[in-house]
Amino acid sequence: MPTTCVIGLLWGDEGKGKIIDLFAQDADFVVRFGGGHNAGHTLIRDGQKLVLHLVPSAILRPSVVNVIGNGVVVDPAYLRQEIDELKETGVDVRLGENLLVSEGAHVVLPVHQALDRVAEKMRGADKIGTTGRGIGPAYADRASRSGLRMGDLIRPKRLRAALARTVTEKNALLRAFDEEVIDAAALEGQLLELGEALRPAICDAGHALREAVREGKRVLCEGAQGVLLDVDHGTYPFVTSSSASSGGIAVGTGLSPKSLDRVVGVVKAYATRVGEGPFPSELHGEIAETLRAAGGEYGATTGRPRRIGDFDAVAVRYAAAVSGVDELVVTNLDVLSGFEPLRIVTGHRRGDEVLDRFSACDLDDLECVVEELPGFTENVREIRRFQDLPVNAQRYIERIEELTGVPVATISVGPGRDEVLHRAVEAGVR
Ligand code: IMP
Repeated sequence: MPTTCVIGLLWGDEGKGKIIDLFAQDADFVVRFGGGHNAGHTLIRDGQKLVLHLVPSAILRPSVVNVIGNGVVVDPAYLRQEIDELKETGVDVRLGENLLVSEGAHVVLPVHQALDRVAEKMRGADKIGTTGRGIGPAYADRASRSGLRMGDLIRPKRLRAALARTVTEKNALLRAFDEEVIDAAALEGQLLELGEALRPAICDAGHALREAVREGKRVLCEGAQGVLLDVDHGTYPFVTSSSASSGGIAVGTGLSPKSLDRVVGVVKAYATRVGEGPFPSELHGEIAETLRAAGGEYGATTGRPRRIGDFDAVAVRYAAAVSGVDELVVTNLDVLSGFEPLRIVTGHRRGDEVLDRFSACDLDDLECVVEELPGFTENVREIRRFQDLPVNAQRYIERIEELTGVPVATISVGPGRDEVLHRAVEAGVR
């Protein structure tokens, strides 16, 4: 795996944490390229659940260098807390050694969280259902050139200048919304202190990554969220504010687009979404409740119940095409045990017109064309070879391949590290 990426293909929560941890056993570097602490990557370690929000998912593997790329927005107070908590549970986090933070990564400030809340309140019934972590306002500041970057936290002169640029503008907004204004001096003090604490990790991470690729090291790019939450290719405006598809990798790491060799797309054996926005294959009522309970479908970051839907082959085909996916990982296959029939969305219908193409900009008033397949009742968590899966589970996976045009190379059959099976497939076959 010279340079590989693992991304979610729908609206996040596909189970990427475990898959990235798995791929990381063959990696020298693992780099996050977008999102912030809105992401929640769940890992199981010695039977214990560990949820990471900012620190890349390979932190449990001592020999891997974990990198927070420039495309990530970093709440430095949150990052320090996450590092402290990891250390308390015995994880070996060494700043500047197995954890690097790009000096170009933008900073999420408390004011961004206040503005996230205000924006959601103003949207009323059209709210996005953000995680409330200030992600959108931080990316907005990046684009409008009034943001602070992690490198500013260790350069007092630059920090003061950057704060001067942003505080006056922000305070005018905060006053207008009756929110508490920023005390610039206090904020400067806090940021300098955080900068001091994180200093050993803050560096030119893009350079480190390019050098790693040049030296033939194996780099794994860790996606956050999913392609349908991508600010350009997702279900806008019900998206996050970064580029969650593989297209975000060069922008968010400083690696050249040419350095990416393999794109792995992760999907659940069914579909979920948290937050508002279009979800053509959404299910309601008892079947959704049962699936939510069986899969433990509650947001890793906010605890919100996830919306549940059928596997949507049209959406997955689109997301895979946008990201140049070579192979799929299907997670949570075990959760479908006992569901009869299994259902796959093969097309969308608007009125009499059947659409076999997913148009992310035009998803209103769609109904789904559903194909039903026979289910299975066996517990599949102990199974480690594809041919040992119940025949109906095999058939379901093969149908996913036929409909999406992408081979399924890996299947996850439980949350544990070893609850996974691999298949020899020819990557990129379409
Ligand atoms: P924001 O990223 O907090 O601005 O939220 C925008 C949308 O993305 C909301 O619908 C969130 O629920 C969703 N979202 C953001 N991060 C994640 C994630 O890691 N998993 C699933 N949904 C997410």
